[in-house]
Amino acid sequence: MTEENETPKIILPDDTPVDLQKELRLSNVQEVLDELDKELIGLKPVKTRIRETAALLLVDRVRNKMNLTAASPTLHMSFTGNPGTGKTTVALRMAEILHRLEYVRTGQLVTVTRDDLVGQYIGHTAPKTKEVIKKAMGGVLFIDEAYYLYKPENERDYGAESIEILLQVMENNRDDLVVVLAGYKDKMDTFFHSNPGMRSRVAHHIDFPDYSPDELLMIAKLMLADQNYRLSDDAAEALLEYTKRRMKMIHFANARSIRNALDRARLRQANRLFNSTSKSVKKIDLMTIEAEDILASRVFEEGTLDMDGDEGADIKPQEPIVDS
Ligand SMILES: Nc1ncnc2c1ncn2[C@@H]1O[C@H](COP(=O)(O)OP(=O)(O)O)[C@@H](O)[C@H]1O
Ligand SMILES: [Mg+2]
Repeated sequence: MTEENETPKIILPDDTPVDLQKELRLSNVQEVLDELDKELIGLKPVKTRIRETAALLLVDRVRNKMNLTAASPTLHMSFTGNPGTGKTTVALRMAEILHRLEYVRTGQLVTVTRDDLVGQYIGHTAPKTKEVIKKAMGGVLFIDEAYYLYKPENERDYGAESIEILLQVMENNRDDLVVVLAGYKDKMDTFFHSNPGMRSRVAHHIDFPDYSPDELLMIAKLMLADQNYRLSDDAAEALLEYTKRRMKMIHFANARSIRNALDRARLRQANRLFNSTSKSVKKIDLMTIEAEDILASRVFEEGTLDMDGDEGADIKPQEPIVDS
């Protein structure tokens, strides 16, 4: 919140009663929280943490109106968990909440990895990092696999330069830029251990658990409904079995693997319909994924444990997601 740009601050008299629920409604944050509940399956601890953060920000805002000044809360966060557990998706919602509560001016989410921040040659890193910061200013900077910024094994690694610049901005511009560091939990722990500067600036640590097979099935149904598809009962059963097998194979990426599996199921459905002997198809046929569209996957073949399903797209489990 940049105080200078605001209309003159109105301080409420000390005995004004404030209805926090009404404040919540006025901010339109409840809407985002409700969507989060409805559109994201599972993730209970994550949703609780987001709601707690929203409450903190809301109370902070009301405190401000009562002239109870304090430094604005540090909002930099770490989102840890395996690929496909919803980190990017939740970061988008977080950006929206921060925007609606006016902690950031514009609320855009800029997703980057090491390559976007660090140059190959001397003198290239600072401009690259600053360019990214400029784009993200007023919103949220999401650094995927943030720990790759720090490579102690390379004595002259430019990542350290990028970290230095980020640290400065995280301190000096913390009321207008929120940084989210994302990645695997163990690697992030190691990163924070060797970067006390980062550790001290990141106040909120949120862990994203792996999904259960049942949760993944619900996620699949939600994804399909979004696209006007449905699973037949047999197909739902087949997909649950698919999921249990796929989880044991390499490069499993939670909800992302399910999304990929559904893309291929759609491909098989289209071909099944196209090659079928019946002359016409009905709307329900066009909508329905059948068990055979799932069961044709390589995942159901014997001896495929060392394969990554039939999803070539999953080989780079943490590639930055720009769209979702
Ligand atoms: N809890 C969930 N409910 C519904 N869809 C989800 C959920 N978690 C993830 N997804 C979907 O799975 C895909 C991967 O999620 P993403 O947020 O990119 O994961 P991560 O950033 O942790 O790798 C996205 O398409 C997202 O919409
Ligand atoms: Mg991601």
